Amino acid sequence: MAVDVILGLQWGDEGKGKIVDFLAEKYDLVCRFQGGPNAGHTIKIDGKKYVLHTIPSGIFRSDIINVIGNGVVLDPITMVKEMQALDNAHIDFWPRLMVSRKAHLIVPTHRYLDAASEAAKGVSKIGSTLKGIGPAYMDKTGRNGLRVGDLVSSDFEAKYRSIKEKHLGLIRLYPEIAFDLETEEQKFFESVEILKQLQFINSEYYVNQALAQGKQILAEGAQGSMLDIDFGTYPYVTSSNTISAGVCSGLGIAPNKIREVIGIAKAYCTRVGSGPFPTELHDATGEKLRQVGMEFGATTGRPRRCGWIDIPQLLYTIMLNGVTQVIITKLDVLDTFETVQAATGYNYDNIVTEELPFDIVDKHIEPVYQHFDGWFESLDAVKQFSDLPVKAKDYIGHLENMLRTRIAMVSTGPEREKLFPRS
Ligand code: GDP
Ligand code: IMO
Ligand code: MG
Repeated sequence: MAVDVILGLQWGDEGKGKIVDFLAEKYDLVCRFQGGPNAGHTIKIDGKKYVLHTIPSGIFRSDIINVIGNGVVLDPITMVKEMQALDNAHIDFWPRLMVSRKAHLIVPTHRYLDAASEAAKGVSKIGSTLKGIGPAYMDKTGRNGLRVGDLVSSDFEAKYRSIKEKHLGLIRLYPEIAFDLETEEQKFFESVEILKQLQFINSEYYVNQALAQGKQILAEGAQGSMLDIDFGTYPYVTSSNTISAGVCSGLGIAPNKIREVIGIAKAYCTRVGSGPFPTELHDATGEKLRQVGMEFGATTGRPRRCGWIDIPQLLYTIMLNGVTQVIITKLDVLDTFETVQAATGYNYDNIVTEELPFDIVDKHIEPVYQHFDGWFESLDAVKQFSDLPVKAKDYIGHLENMLRTRIAMVSTGPEREKLFPRS
């Protein structure tokens, strides 16, 4: 009986969705434990592309149960859109998708508040996805939130009105922005009726009973560890614990049930939204990474900021998560680079260190780089690790040494089959 975890080690979009879809085959349950529709997990199967925001990425495997845990914040509108997209693709998910009664709801005024708060921040805005994530978690910790289980209570509309009035009071404190609340509210209540056809469960019991029966569980992270509310580049973070600790509180699983923690990292690095990014490239190399890697947000379409892989940053998130194995994605994106670089240290306050400073937001960090030869060869035909060009294998070997953690798999394309165990 065990829970394995897949999570992002950088600032999100590491390719978690693809890896979860691939590895899900070995599990009975795939569970989301935090975040909400700010996530965009892309999966490419048989030439078809799917983007999931709230639904776990195990949904494409016909024998796997998918659970949206209590730690997630769920927007009925986006959720129903995702369900409709799956219906249209003839994916029979209905009996295999369950939602925790304790998951908190995102209501339209959460999105309104998110937009108003961001507009008021001006240049210092977080660059939020505007999905209402921050305000929904504020209501959760402020003990005002509405939960999925409330949807079936007879006084749900009264509870909704009460929270909406509270939000409208707050919104008046911000400069005015455009938001069509009436239309959004109508969509919300229509979506709620569809959502109610799903199974709402006491997921903490469900998941623990599955464990007791010897079932295998995969917990799917959203965002990345550098966006963690406690350990990320605060305040430029999301509002949940994205690290492995979030699995326990977001699913009701005890720490001693966690087995493997599989950390996903790109062969380079990206970030969407504002905030520090020590290895960001503002030059033609950064632009090339963006174009070749097709680095545009799966949720918002925004161009992602791009830079080299950052070893001190990864050592930090490997430490925080207790990572037992790393999977490197998007190695193919580096195919046409003559040299590939990795930051191995941070130079600030006249020292070179691997430690991320508390005031990373304000500090000027000069990364110290190590250069590696590029392989200058397409990885398109690679079918197993041994097919990789020698220099690509060397790069993986160097990464493994620097990360002091086993690199278990390498991904060389968005398609399901382009993922190989390290040999
Ligand atoms: P997630 O949020 O971590 O699930 O990642 P996203 O789906 O937001 O972004 C990852 C993007 O990279 C998606 O468009 C994937 O289809 C794509 N992708 C995943 N793995 C690879 C890979 O190994 N190579 C390439 N070229 N693309 C990949
Ligand atoms: P996946 O799961 C990348 C970023 C936003 C913003 C900050 C706060 O696809 O990796 P929020 O809407 O959460 O209040 O935004 O976090 N962000 C992500 N960046 N991938 C994500 O999810 C993200 N979810 C949030 O861009 O900078
Ligand atoms: Mg994403």
